Amino acid sequence: MADLAALLTDAAARVADHRAQAAAGPVAPSPDVVTTVRSALGSLRDEPTEPAQVIDELVAAVRPGLVATTGPRYFGFVIGGAFPAATAADILTTGWDQPAFNAVTSPAAAAVEEVAGGWLAELLGLPAGVSVGFVTGGQAANTVGLAAARHRVLAHAGWDVERDGLAGAPPVRVIASAERHATIDRSLRLLGLGTRAVTAVDADAQGRIDVPALARTLDALPPGPTVVCLQAGNVNTGACDDLVTGVAAAHRIGAWVHVDGAFGLWAAASPATRGLVEGLAGADSWATDGHKWLNVPYDSGYVFCADPAAHRAAMSFTASYLTGHGEGEVRAPSDYVPESSRRARGFATWAALRELGRSGVAELVERCCALARRFGDRAVDLDGVAVLNDVVLNQVLLRFGDDDAATDAVVAAVQRSGEAWMGATTWQGRRAMRISVSNATTSEDDVDRALLAVSTAWTAVARR
Ligand SMILES: Cc1ncc(COP(=O)(O)O)c(C=O)c1O
Repeated sequence: MADLAALLTDAAARVADHRAQAAAGPVAPSPDVVTTVRSALGSLRDEPTEPAQVIDELVAAVRPGLVATTGPRYFGFVIGGAFPAATAADILTTGWDQPAFNAVTSPAAAAVEEVAGGWLAELLGLPAGVSVGFVTGGQAANTVGLAAARHRVLAHAGWDVERDGLAGAPPVRVIASAERHATIDRSLRLLGLGTRAVTAVDADAQGRIDVPALARTLDALPPGPTVVCLQAGNVNTGACDDLVTGVAAAHRIGAWVHVDGAFGLWAAASPATRGLVEGLAGADSWATDGHKWLNVPYDSGYVFCADPAAHRAAMSFTASYLTGHGEGEVRAPSDYVPESSRRARGFATWAALRELGRSGVAELVERCCALARRFGDRAVDLDGVAVLNDVVLNQVLLRFGDDDAATDAVVAAVQRSGEAWMGATTWQGRRAMRISVSNATTSEDDVDRALLAVSTAWTAVARR
């Protein structure tokens, strides 16, 4: 029998080492490293291998292919870092190996999701009594929120979708911004509503839904089951829909409002940015992530619902052998998520919130926004560089020489430099470098160092 304590101590030391190197080494390996990793992983052996050797081999094989996502100069997608307590709690979660099904499978996991879920709702300014599900991320949270919506709007129309399915059901109309996140469409596919259910409403130059157009669209609809998707935090610009007007327009016709706030919902946690998501509390369901701005390790997302009965109706299930379900004082976490068996994600979230406190979360949001503004303010001083968005949150879009190819070339050169990593996107028909400041360890020096890499790359590209 292997010495488990030694194995875990060694694994924790390797994690700490990886984290310590994240600020020092190249931010990302070259994409072709995947070939090296694949071959180093080897082939299936006939014989068993000692656990310590397994870990040695695993680390040796994959290390060259690890990306420094926990490091301070990773600005890709919307990838948060991972706070120390949350990381350690996540390692404990693995070691404890608790199925977060109900209070029988793990009283601790059930209680921690209830407590941490309440803290999250409070921080985000959601109404008292909202239900919460701990899911894998924004995609799953959108799917669950829209499943609750589907239940409620069809129940109002006299249709039991959980029992009868969608064949023959009254059509469900989904009204959403042309700038909705792509995961909304995938959720609609998974829920059988289909992407053709969407009526897309135009967005403005920042990516906010055109609320007068939304109101006109809604007012012109004949009565029927309707879901409106609004957004807090456009994935490119960070802009937030006008939730006050959008929610009011939707509720005027009895529609369900789902807010996709994968990262932007966190604007609510700071007085400095709260105004961007004013009206949030009036919605019916909300999706957000822990692994983005809250800097909880992957994977971690949350769905909240102002109609817990609809949430449960869409998600819960039971079976005769599943004792302890729906009984007792502690809610069953599995009633609010699509999985049956599931990792106990609440421990890491509880740890992040305990480590930060209310003030720490607010400060994290404000600091990332200030660093994003620093990116924008300094980038415009570079000749030929334009900032394409109003930097209202943690997202910045840069364009070089007003040219698609030059912009892509700068992005590629910065990625190759290893100094920083930012991705590329297309914003309103134009290629842009996309910067997301989502890591709690990023400092002003990191922004300046990344900007130096950007200006060096741009100078070289411009010279060609
Ligand atoms: C607005 C928005 N919604 C949903 C998602 C999907 O979140 P996840 O990748 O955690 O599933 C993202 C991811 O960036 C997002 O920005």
